[in-house]
Amino acid sequence: PIILSQTSYTHRDDLTYPYQERALQFGDGIYEVIRIYNGRYYLLEEHVDRLFRSAEAVKIELPFTKQEVTDLLLELLEKNEMKEDGKMYMQVSRGSAPRDHVFPADVPANIYAYVQQLPRAEEKLKNGVPVITQRDIRWENCYIKSLNLLPNVLAKQEAKEQGCDEAILHRDGRVTECSSSNVYLVKNGEIRTHPATNNILHGCVRMKVKSLAEEQEIPFIEEAFHVEDIEDADELFLTSSTSEVMPITKVDGKDIANGAPGRITRLLQQAYDQDAG
Ligand code: PDD
Repeated sequence: PIILSQTSYTHRDDLTYPYQERALQFGDGIYEVIRIYNGRYYLLEEHVDRLFRSAEAVKIELPFTKQEVTDLLLELLEKNEMKEDGKMYMQVSRGSAPRDHVFPADVPANIYAYVQQLPRAEEKLKNGVPVITQRDIRWENCYIKSLNLLPNVLAKQEAKEQGCDEAILHRDGRVTECSSSNVYLVKNGEIRTHPATNNILHGCVRMKVKSLAEEQEIPFIEEAFHVEDIEDADELFLTSSTSEVMPITKVDGKDIANGAPGRITRLLQQAYDQDAG
């Protein structure tokens, strides 16, 4: 497979990685994951915009414009002859330099991006997934898509060890998001989710689901719900580029409503499928 490295292409096996890499030593960098359907990016512009917002927030200088990186990513698909469903991962670190917490002077960002196949999770999308709840122990700038994912990794692993797919995170009972997705509660025909503040990642699928809900005249209320609201929820679902609109059918071992995906979740799944087409 061909990888985008800095601003040119190389074979995966030819990539060498310096040990004094700030992504490795400090997690000092940012990333993006973009969904690919039938060899085409979904929500590409939104992801590129977020990449630039993250870079600006952590003061990493990108060596390209939005248009230039868009062109490079499109070329990456072509070079890999990507025709299937998949995902693109792009990572940007502050660069390589002798280890020092302070930013290195005049060092270029280290960048790579690759595409790989990723089939849609048909079974789970149909039947829903179980999740757990966990304290959100992350920092205060979760809107930055930072490489510092240790709390997310620990939460996801805990979910897995309990036979679940995701962990719903909460700060003092207020639900923020999941370890790698956004989360929504449906009650009395209204969708509720944490507002797009510093405490969550502003998901590209979240943004899309908001507009799909508004098109269907389903109220989309950006107010945090609480862990104790979950047991009375009519429906619960999560979204991300890799999970799409995923029904949640069980939380901490208890069924949501009758334990089957709900009507509004299904409506949004259909609208999403049409949009991602
Ligand atoms: N994760 N919240 C968190 C913490 C995330 O890591 C993600 C995405 C999302 C959803 O964002 P989007 O809708 O733009 O994919 C929300 C990616 C898929 C990942 O880390 O693999």
